Amino acid sequence: MSILKIIEYGNPILREKSKEVTKVSKKIKTLITDMLETMYSANGVGLAAPQVGQNLRIFVIDVSDPEGPIDPQIFVNPKIIKVSGAINSYEGCLSFPKAYTNVRRYSDVMVKALDINGRPFIKEAHNGELLARAIQHEFDHLDGKLFIDHCRNRFETNNVLAKYNLPPVEADKLLNEEELEKSIIEYEKNHPEEAEKLRKEIEDSENQNG
Ligand code: NI
Repeated sequence: MSILKIIEYGNPILREKSKEVTKVSKKIKTLITDMLETMYSANGVGLAAPQVGQNLRIFVIDVSDPEGPIDPQIFVNPKIIKVSGAINSYEGCLSFPKAYTNVRRYSDVMVKALDINGRPFIKEAHNGELLARAIQHEFDHLDGKLFIDHCRNRFETNNVLAKYNLPPVEADKLLNEEELEKSIIEYEKNHPEEAEKLRKEIEDSENQNG
C-alpha cells in the first residue's frame, strides 16, 4: 500500500471526464487500496480517482465516526439513479486544502455501482446526511465537476479561495441551479429549526474533506 499525491485545484486533470473501469483487475484493486490509505492519511471522508491523477470512474468514502472502526465504501463505475430534496451543504475537498464554502446539494440520493469484487450494489442516503453529500461530491469529480461549481455565493467562495492561495471560481463551470436554489430557500423558510440544526451539524463536523 502507498500514499498517493493528491492533485490540487488548478490542475486540469480535475476537469477531465473519467473513463469507465472495464474490469476490477488486480491493478484497480491496488489503486483502490492506495486511495483508501491516502484518504485516511489526509483525514478525508471521500476521495475520487482523478484526485490522485487517475481519470477512472472510482471513488471511496468513509463517513464513520473517526474514533470508531473504519467503514470503507468503494464505488466503481457509479451511476446516480435518483435524486430528490435540496439542502445547503458546507463543503471542503482534499484538492482545496482548508477551503470550505456553502454549496447546493440534493438531500437524497440513490446510487448504483460495483464493489471491489466487481459485484453490483445499490446504496441510498437520505435527509442530507453526510453520505448523501459525499456521494454527490465524489461522483462530480468523475465528470470533472468540483464542489465550487455548486457554490451559492460566488464572491464569498472567491474570498475563501484567495485566502488559501487557490485559483478563483471558473465562471464558465458554474452550474445553473436555480430550481435547486429555490428549493433550498423554500426548505429553510418552511423548516427554520431543521435547517438551522442541519447547518450547525454540517459546520461543526470536522471531517468533510472529499
Ligand atoms: Ni473533492
